[in-house]
Amino acid sequence: MKLPKITIAIDGYSSTGKSSFAKLLAKELGLLYLDSGALYRGVTLFAQEAGYIDAENHISEALKEKLASLELKFLQGKLYIGERCVEDEIRSMKVSSQVSPIAAVAYIRHYVDDCLHCLAAEESVIMDGRDIGTTVFPNAQVKIFMTASEEVRVRRRYDELLAKGSNPDFEEVRENLRQRDYIDSHRETSPLSQASDAFVLDNSEMTLKEEVEWAKGLIRGKLGIYEEC
Ligand code: CDP
Repeated sequence: MKLPKITIAIDGYSSTGKSSFAKLLAKELGLLYLDSGALYRGVTLFAQEAGYIDAENHISEALKEKLASLELKFLQGKLYIGERCVEDEIRSMKVSSQVSPIAAVAYIRHYVDDCLHCLAAEESVIMDGRDIGTTVFPNAQVKIFMTASEEVRVRRRYDELLAKGSNPDFEEVRENLRQRDYIDSHRETSPLSQASDAFVLDNSEMTLKEEVEWAKGLIRGKLGIYEEC
């Protein structure tokens, strides 16, 4: 399918499979994939390692100044802090347990929004997150809001952590998803919410291939493209 320059925004709850879906769709359509959650996770790892967040989730004001020199970048789809690849560390339970308090801070959201706008300036992109269709790219041509049953989401994240060699506790994973969804939906600055012009994708009982076919149909319809992929 030949596409004009477009932006596709994918938002939704934790562990709804947004990144697997967005990555495959990006590959099939030849678009750049940007994982906004990875940037929030990168800031969290940085804050944890530098001692800017404590066990009670108090965030030091000093982090604000330090963000100016924090160099986050994607190389071949993996997140780097400077020259160090942090892709595995940012997916750990330790980072997951503090990422939502970090992502609720307005100046951190502005920092990440600026990174996203820079990265997406020249190219057609598919971006996933919590506020892409509502705040980061409110004019995105296609918006998808993803959801799935809690049981399916917990199982997915649990299996993912297991496959990466950690030893997760199923109920701890469930609690983390619940807490993140709560904080993400109730924060003051750009909370997780469905854009009024987003299409809902409940993938509780869908395969990844079915999701991508559904999305291609949606994109063709939205852009008025009639040729098959
Ligand atoms: O993979 P999963 O859906 O569990 O999460 P993620 O996309 O890696 O995002 C991690 C966290 O970053 C979320 O729980 C949010 O707190 C935050 N986030 C956000 O606030 N806004 C975004 N656009 C993306 C992520």
